[in-house]
Amino acid sequence: MTASMDNHKILITGANGQVGSVLSAALREKHGIDNVIHTDISAPESEIGHFEFLNVIDTDSMRELIETYEIKEIYHLAAILSANGERNPRVTWNVNFTSYLNLLELSLELGVQKIFFPSTIAVFGPTTPREHTPQDVPLLPSTVYGMSKASGEYWNQYYYDQYRLDIRSIRYPGIIGHQSMPGGGTTDYAVEIFHDAISKGSYECYLGPDVRLPMIFMDDAIQATMELMSAPRENVRLHYGYNIHGLDFTPAELAHEIQKHLPDFKITYAPDERENIAATWPMSIDDSQARADWDWQARYDLEALVSTMIHHLS
Ligand code: SER
Repeated sequence: MTASMDNHKILITGANGQVGSVLSAALREKHGIDNVIHTDISAPESEIGHFEFLNVIDTDSMRELIETYEIKEIYHLAAILSANGERNPRVTWNVNFTSYLNLLELSLELGVQKIFFPSTIAVFGPTTPREHTPQDVPLLPSTVYGMSKASGEYWNQYYYDQYRLDIRSIRYPGIIGHQSMPGGGTTDYAVEIFHDAISKGSYECYLGPDVRLPMIFMDDAIQATMELMSAPRENVRLHYGYNIHGLDFTPAELAHEIQKHLPDFKITYAPDERENIAATWPMSIDDSQARADWDWQARYDLEALVSTMIHHLS
């Protein structure tokens, strides 16, 4: 990819996180290092270009950054995930939702043109069909994280309908990558298992063996995000949040695939409260609208995902 050296400045919140750290590299490659302003509440582990501290609930600082850098595009990745969110519901609401409402208001006022909002399979709930979960179903999320993201989705569509703000959003499944670690989510096991399999030869899983969840390989998740954000505006027919599907599996199926590479690997199960969250989430996702609107297609199946993860982490 060649860097398009426009002067279109991009702000990314949560730039040190599981997705942020990988997505920001793709954005730097596409738009040029000088055009990406990385922000997070703590310093990045390594040099990543232009970095500013930002706690997303601090609206004054957010305003100052958008003004100073004349930001035109924002990727708002800062969030507290599902399992951690349950420990502190109000803080989670403020970080995940209130910050976003403030960001939307600032964007209108200060001329931000395009926003990416990461949504999630956690917007679904116990009343949602769990297999091939359709794009449009009633949302009754079971976690504060899911509530905050579902509410963000409503505001996405509202800001598009009322103000034509170009907001784009994906409901990410659990994301699995070798580049970074997730933290505080329900799908984290599917990354942790690789690290433990390689370093210890065993993993104790906090979900039972048969809990099926939708997942996606990191490279596919980044590709989806970059593709949606560069799709022609008229192709983006919905703004609240696109379903996308990568693959789906259970802990037992994942362990079995890992054993093909590491035959001595052992998995044990000690389900905790995260299993109750997973029980309200889809097992697989119908992503036909994303396929139709912007040609979405995942590339990694379980075999490719596992061999790539083991190759990179070994
Ligand atoms: N990975 C997230 C979580 O487990 C779901 O979006 O909370």
